[in-house]
Amino acid sequence: MNPVSELIKNLADQHGRERHNLLPILQGVVEQEKYLSEFSMIEIARELGLPASEVYGTATFYSFLEHKKMGKYIIRICKTITCSMKGKNQVLLAIEDMLKISVGETTSDGTFSLLQTNCLGFCHKAPAMLVNNEVFTDLTPEKVREILSSYLKK
Ligand code: FES
Repeated sequence: MNPVSELIKNLADQHGRERHNLLPILQGVVEQEKYLSEFSMIEIARELGLPASEVYGTATFYSFLEHKKMGKYIIRICKTITCSMKGKNQVLLAIEDMLKISVGETTSDGTFSLLQTNCLGFCHKAPAMLVNNEVFTDLTPEKVREILSSYLKK
């Protein structure tokens, strides 16, 4: 059995095959695979007996459910107002300059993808970003370069 099909079957066994179990299954696939491929969405639809269009509609509605191939580390920098007012643009420029990619792109070696996101709930420590599930706050261009260097050494 294809490893993705097996993962989806296991997630469906674990969460159930009702319509309301779709979101945890989508999240489980993204956690493992880093994104939802067309194949995954069709497999989930088949496993849950749902129309593929419904799976696709749900997957594309949530900004944390990526549906294109992502890098090993997904950087999500907050683009909401407090972070914008507290220097997010300079931080973003430092990231783009260091990694040689723009928002929406992945480095050619597949290490980092760069995305923007809405408020992460750390406005009191703005600007903030996530790298996969890790939160970083009070960012400055220097600090973000150090953080990304530490990921490069991992
Ligand atoms: Fe950026 Fe809230 S505005 S964390």
